[in-house]
Amino acid sequence: KLTAAITAVGGYVPEYRLTNQELESIVETSDEWIVTRTGIKERRILKDPEKATSDLAIEAISEVLRKKQLDPKDIECIICCTMTPDMQLTVTAAYIAWKIGAENAWGYDFTAACCGFLYGLTTAASYVESGRYKKVIVVGVDNMSAFVDYQDRNTCVLFGDGGAAVLVEPNTEGLGVIDSKFGTNGYGRQLMHQKAGGSLKPASHATIDAREHYAYMDGKAVFKYAVTCMSESITAVMKKNNLSAADIAWIVPHQANLRIIEAVAKETGMPMDKIMLNIEKYGNTIAGTIPLCLWEWEPRLNKGDNIILVSFGGGFTWGATLLKW
Ligand code: ACO
Repeated sequence: KLTAAITAVGGYVPEYRLTNQELESIVETSDEWIVTRTGIKERRILKDPEKATSDLAIEAISEVLRKKQLDPKDIECIICCTMTPDMQLTVTAAYIAWKIGAENAWGYDFTAACCGFLYGLTTAASYVESGRYKKVIVVGVDNMSAFVDYQDRNTCVLFGDGGAAVLVEPNTEGLGVIDSKFGTNGYGRQLMHQKAGGSLKPASHATIDAREHYAYMDGKAVFKYAVTCMSESITAVMKKNNLSAADIAWIVPHQANLRIIEAVAKETGMPMDKIMLNIEKYGNTIAGTIPLCLWEWEPRLNKGDNIILVSFGGGFTWGATLLKW
């Protein structure tokens, strides 16, 4: 039986570091508040006005191509998981393919907020397991600073820019994506959204004046759902595959808030030294957080490790994916 394995990871974050200290000069906040409430010390911000999500993705995918010495013409499909496409009415994945010379690839943008990478990876795995495709790129990437209101201290301290890409290829040793447990709940849209700029409330002078093109979140409510849904997803995928905490090498959680991650670890009985973290450096990069963790931890991963990727985000969307590395 064919499985779909991740055979290379590439990542990219912009150079500019927006520190908590700098945020103290922008909104009424403090390093102490941000660190104790979220675990974030700094986040990377794309400052170049000529650049956007596709540029972050291209850097990440280019690293994958270099590592695998892969000709871009061999890529068959690019799934760009993002909430922040370069533009409406076009497809960021198509632009990425064009820019990197992936002339034989098709592709599309995949919108599932912070679960984008997980859902995109499972989709790519299905293509590969079916035997239809052999080289699929999944990139989880967001340029969230373009949608953050730097006058709103409730949200502006949380988000950063960045992303990472993986190459998904067929495997005959049983490595790769093993199983997933996903869920959605549309009630979540009232708790987290960008009110205007979509088809429900198109852009107008009034919506801009009301600052409705920025991210809104009821943090407290989202926090509770995140802990419950992430914990239940981990437990469900472990139970379904007869795994105990001792069988799991790593948990890779979406990096939204360190306290959410600690609560999930406690709830599921997973020790914190098995949890991948990089929230301190990058904050919440939406679809970028999970592949960025894999990118940074790759040297510490061993063949055959059981890894659970778990996320929760806008929509609501949530879920866990079991991987054999
Ligand atoms: N600096 C100082 N004070 C602040 C800041 C800040 N940056 N932000 C909010 N506050 C204040 C508020 O104004 C409020 O003050 P008040 O009580 O006088 O009204 C108080 O702090 C709020 O405190 P809490 O509600 O106790 O804050 P909480 O512990 O809930 O932390 C946070 C807030 C960090 C937003 C948290 O709720 C959180 O992380 N929520 C979940 C985020 C998340 O999981 N997102 C997931 C998905 S994101 C996505 O998919 C796009």
